[in-house]
Amino acid sequence: MCGLFPPEFECDAVLKDGRCVHIRPLNFDEYDRLGDLYQRSSEESLRKRFGWTEAREWLRSIKGCSEDSQICLIAEHPENGEEREVVGDCWYFVEVGTGSAEVSILVRDDFQNRGLGTQMMEQLLKVAKAEGIYRLFVLVNITNHPMMAIVKRLKFSFIHSADASHLYRLDL
Ligand SMILES: CC(C)(COP(=O)(O)OP(=O)(O)OC[C@H]1O[C@@H](n2cnc3c(N)ncnc32)[C@H](O)[C@@H]1OP(=O)(O)O)[C@@H](O)C(=O)NCCC(=O)NCCS
Repeated sequence: MCGLFPPEFECDAVLKDGRCVHIRPLNFDEYDRLGDLYQRSSEESLRKRFGWTEAREWLRSIKGCSEDSQICLIAEHPENGEEREVVGDCWYFVEVGTGSAEVSILVRDDFQNRGLGTQMMEQLLKVAKAEGIYRLFVLVNITNHPMMAIVKRLKFSFIHSADASHLYRLDL
């Protein structure tokens, strides 16, 4: 179910365990597919991603937002024959009038630590650049070692810390 975005916004990714996933933008009539991803993610992963907000509540709120203000990439994996399951999402949310955006990502627990988060973020950077975003921000709890590893690998710069979180920035 593709087509609203240019083909270069899509890519295939091979994970460290040999599994292949397809990364592509989520179309706006497909948001309900994320419910299954959130349902199959651990409480710990959801807490890191959404804080104290309930994931389905967040999904309901985001559906009403302007299509220009956000992009979501999903990773799909064919688990049951032809059916493709969403195993990760990676967003940027544009800060209106600034040309900058905030990044958020979730990889399903059974796909973590296999290079998927890195590859989704790399694809998100390409999409953001093509869409004219010139600066990305991400707020990471300092105990979130996998996310810390990704922001360092992708050469985000440390901006400041607040409580137990660090704010990072990447100029595209
Ligand atoms: C953060 C997240 C998206 C990373 O996705 P991922 O697919 O696991 O990431 P990758 O496999 O590409 O990279 C993770 C890196 O962290 C490393 N890592 C994992 N645990 C680590 C630890 N305890 N200490 C140090 N490094 C660690 C991995 O080894 C890997 O590095 P490598 O490729 O050099 O081996 C995923 O863990 C997730 O969804 N977490 C819950 C939600 C979340 O935290 N979102 C981000 C909020 S800011």
